[in-house]
Amino acid sequence: MTLLHTAPAVPGEAAALPADWYGAAPSPIGVDQAFNGFVAATVVHTLDRLGIWDRFAQSPCLDVPAFVRGAGPAVRERIVREVLRAAAVCGWVRLEDGGDAAVLTDAGRETLRMRGYFTWAVGGYSDVFSRAFQLASGEASFGTDVLRDEAMVALGSGQNDRNFMSVTLDEVLADVDFGTLADLGSGMSARVSRVVAGRPGTRGLGLDISGPATDLARRTIAEAGLEDRVRAVQADVLDVCHRQAHREALSEVDTVMSFFLLHDLLADPVTRPQLFTRLREAFPAARTFVLADTMLRPDAENAATLPVFSLGYELAHALMGVPLHAKETYEELFAAAGLHPVRTVPFGTPHSWLYVLEAR
Ligand SMILES: C[S@@+](CC[C@H](N)C(=O)[O-])C[C@H]1O[C@@H](n2cnc3c(N)ncnc32)[C@H](O)[C@@H]1O
Repeated sequence: MTLLHTAPAVPGEAAALPADWYGAAPSPIGVDQAFNGFVAATVVHTLDRLGIWDRFAQSPCLDVPAFVRGAGPAVRERIVREVLRAAAVCGWVRLEDGGDAAVLTDAGRETLRMRGYFTWAVGGYSDVFSRAFQLASGEASFGTDVLRDEAMVALGSGQNDRNFMSVTLDEVLADVDFGTLADLGSGMSARVSRVVAGRPGTRGLGLDISGPATDLARRTIAEAGLEDRVRAVQADVLDVCHRQAHREALSEVDTVMSFFLLHDLLADPVTRPQLFTRLREAFPAARTFVLADTMLRPDAENAATLPVFSLGYELAHALMGVPLHAKETYEELFAAAGLHPVRTVPFGTPHSWLYVLEAR
């Protein structure tokens, strides 16, 4: 990752920030870029859902007629070809042999790697974004009339983990000695499964509030052959913290991880100051907390360039009524709960930080 900008991470210490946290997309965004970006995002997601990106991950050349034949009798070849034509217009594939072969380009390889953002945005938050005017006008409310697709949010996060975050996490966890690991807001449990699979003798627990995400998680665990070592439980982490649900399973956990959930847990200003203290009480044996979240972008309104993801993340949470917090706020809350950072590293997605914290 290219390191370009520097900013003090802790007083008196300079830490480099990844260049891609600032992005290269210009602001103001041109009308042509905005319109084409919207359509292009739906093309990325369509290729994902059709399984075409997965095929490209195996081989850079797709035999289009063979793909259509293998995809089943209901598949509409004309539409598949038109979607591939749109992908070619975006520069992600090159069509050859009269359109019977689609060859992945370098730009396509990068889009494939980052497709989780589009699963998140188009798959997970389409309804929220397209009905933002109703959320603003008061005609509809989030959570009752307007919903996100939780399974798609979990799937998108899982794709990003696999494609560009796992290396950082594995490197950080190499220094953490754990026996039983809990992952809070575990989504499809891909991360906890991967980590436990890589460390013989360990066990894992994935907690997620979402039924569809927990169903996906059980499938992920079964496909990994880890049913005897990893368990997915549908639970609200706030219940776990405040009402001590699932107490027995939690008492064995020595290491707690959580990725991209903390902002949801911190949403309520009444419970916010005590959240990490309650978390420590809910996991009495846990000495290490590995926590990551995407944080408020400093000075977002005045930026001349935009990175991937940040604008969508900020707007989606504003529409859902979930406030976001600056890095300093997280660090104050950790300190108040006696959680001491032993490592702080940038974590893939722009303005996301991963902390290893020791409970003292
Ligand atoms: C952005 S996703 C991240 C998923 C996963 N940690 C990852 O990084 O791939 C946030 C997850 O937290 C779950 N979640 C949200 N609020 C929760 C709560 N109160 N308790 C448990 N899970 C929650 C959502 O269902 C979703 O799966």
